[in-house]
Amino acid sequence: MKHIRIGLVGAGFMGKTHLWSVRNLPFFYKTADLGFTAEVAAVCASTPARGEAFAREYGIPRVMTAEEMITDPDIDVIDICTPNPLHFEVAKAAILAGKSVLCEKPLTVTAKEADELARLAEERGAVCGTVFNNRFLAPVMRARQLIDEGKLGRILSFAFTYKHNSCIDPDRRVGWKQTAEAGGGTWYDLGPHAVDLCHYLCGELSFVLGKSQIAYPTHLKADGSVWETNADEAFYVICGTKEGAMGTVTVSKLTQGANDELTFSVNGERGSLSFSLMDPNYLNFYDATAVGSPMGGLRGYTRIECVGRYPSPASGFPAIKAPQGWLRGHIGCMAGYLSAVAGGVACSPSFSDGAYVQRVLEAAVESDRLGREVRLC
Ligand SMILES: NC(=O)c1ccc[n+]([C@@H]2O[C@H](COP(=O)([O-])OP(=O)(O)OC[C@H]3O[C@@H](n4cnc5c(N)ncnc54)[C@H](O)[C@@H]3O)[C@@H](O)[C@H]2O)c1
Repeated sequence: MKHIRIGLVGAGFMGKTHLWSVRNLPFFYKTADLGFTAEVAAVCASTPARGEAFAREYGIPRVMTAEEMITDPDIDVIDICTPNPLHFEVAKAAILAGKSVLCEKPLTVTAKEADELARLAEERGAVCGTVFNNRFLAPVMRARQLIDEGKLGRILSFAFTYKHNSCIDPDRRVGWKQTAEAGGGTWYDLGPHAVDLCHYLCGELSFVLGKSQIAYPTHLKADGSVWETNADEAFYVICGTKEGAMGTVTVSKLTQGANDELTFSVNGERGSLSFSLMDPNYLNFYDATAVGSPMGGLRGYTRIECVGRYPSPASGFPAIKAPQGWLRGHIGCMAGYLSAVAGGVACSPSFSDGAYVQRVLEAAVESDRLGREVRLC
């Protein structure tokens, strides 16, 4: 059985999440069904001391630099969990060195870089995945099935939103994710998830009309000094698909009451779907073909109990009826990616999907700058 050795680049929030996912694969999937085992064999952080502290805390055998991992024959996969501007160089060097690469969203900070990575991965036959973890939540998977089965018919309209409240708090210190240097504020941080789900469920976009918002011209830096806001705090996009559906993609860190509020509604001729990440066990489905009389008949939203009902090779742990959450999407994403590595086959979502999202993000920013819609095809 193949054993996959992963070099983790970045030891922050996502480094921890990916490590947790790799370690917990044998609980959520039977190893015999997966057909591989995996370990995080080495870690790299911003300094050797940080890497050593992380390795000690979580029992990772080696602390290395990214360059060392990329040239080490004992590392199979480079797993990139660093701030956005650091993805490109490491991913490119890793592909050129013959490694498989898993990279956090957004794939890069420019569409040109993302396209270059997608092309390189294709040319070299490298198994390269972008982490769009929300695709692996049971209600999102079920939504895709229902759309594929034609239960919605022609899609007419949609709304994808991702809302946090973190730009409102006056005491919260600005982090790299709020800065232009990191690639562009809320749109580049939350936008990739919303745009990817829109792509996954509704298809490719033909145009975007974007508008950014900065509600707080200044924030505080870690040392308490004043920082001038240089990237959007919220971003609003009106868009249309090649198939003729129209809708919106909205991301905001200016939403009081929001925790991790990723939502969508997709509305077709025959029915509608809606979902919220804060209610991650259920998909709401409205079947417009259901009998509507007398007195509403059987028509109305069904709250589909997706919960832990993941398809094979999922093991059913902890129980198909046990509530699932955000981490379940990450472990599903990791299982799918490493299965592709083990089988030597193309993975989904791939670097091509990451590059597609990057082009949409950039087109929306361009639209905001120009004050008019930007065509994508
Ligand atoms: N898919 C998701 O659900 C999700 C959620 C949050 C963040 N992300 C993405 O994950 C990535 C990391 O975000 P995060 O929240 O973990 O950030 P973080 O700030 O918590 O962690 C970043 C880590 O990178 C390390 N680092 C910085 N420079 C480095 C260098 N030169 N070499 C090696 N390590 C370096 C830092 O020490 C830190 O440990 C970003 O691209 C972000 O957009 C994805």
